[in-house]
Amino acid sequence: MRIPIARTVAELRAAVAAWRQNGLKVAVVPTMGALHDGHLSLVRAALDRADRVIVTLFINPKQFNSQADLAAYPRTEHDDAAKLAPLGAHLLYAPHASEIYAEGFSTTVSVAGVSNGLCGVYRPGHFDGVATVVTKLFLQTGADLAFFGEKDFQQLHVVRRLARDLDIPIEIVACPTVREVDGLAMSSRNQHLTPAQRRVAPMLAAVLFEAAERLAEGAPSKSVLAEAGEAICAAGCDRLEYLELRAEEDLSPLCTADRPARVLVAAWLGNVRLIDNVSVSRWQGADQVYKETTAA
Ligand code: PAF
Repeated sequence: MRIPIARTVAELRAAVAAWRQNGLKVAVVPTMGALHDGHLSLVRAALDRADRVIVTLFINPKQFNSQADLAAYPRTEHDDAAKLAPLGAHLLYAPHASEIYAEGFSTTVSVAGVSNGLCGVYRPGHFDGVATVVTKLFLQTGADLAFFGEKDFQQLHVVRRLARDLDIPIEIVACPTVREVDGLAMSSRNQHLTPAQRRVAPMLAAVLFEAAERLAEGAPSKSVLAEAGEAICAAGCDRLEYLELRAEEDLSPLCTADRPARVLVAAWLGNVRLIDNVSVSRWQGADQVYKETTAA
């Protein structure tokens, strides 16, 4: 069993038009490939809500901050296609680069506000690259629903905002972060960790969950996050970029979790940048959260 692959917008649109003629609901799961269980959980969620599911695979050069990072990004289309077929996804859209950025391409979608702060500080231009490619993927697929993981929480806000602002008729569906059994949030970048770094990496989630518990009890973010930051550095992280409490609804900075909130982190282990976040409002105790998030 193989998943059909579309390489051009014309092929993609022909498939979608045929589905539309039969009144089918279409979902899209945007990815850059190197699919792991987190991506597959998005595909399963999409299959639950739509009649046809398109998975896109495009390693978007505009969202990388360095050529080295772009060059090192895993390219595993064959394996990705093999993982998608048994799930029942209907189409893999793996376009030629020219189908996304034709010669002379000169438009940028830039989402003010939610793109600033957090990753926006450390990855200048990253969210413009994401917003531009996601807008193109939404318009090219014409999907009714799009599925994104909560692990990239700021990205989720950027995507929601652009769809709303540009009146793109698509429902953005957020899916919970999928974790390894030791709590590490799944990411295509985890495969770059050395065995020693991989042993250290789960401490990031452990520290976040502990901080979330204290913040949910009303402790001030200043002291909780200072201690959590120290714990992350003491555990062997090479550089902590940010560790912040932000409102779930609009990512505004918070001093206490007096409304639904997230605690978000970005940290480096060697050459690998890891991000993660945990809901403070949904805090129900460590065991419960670990069960929820590692169950996929
Ligand atoms: O989350 C990702 O993999 C990428 O940022 C996305 C949404 C596919 C855009 O390139």
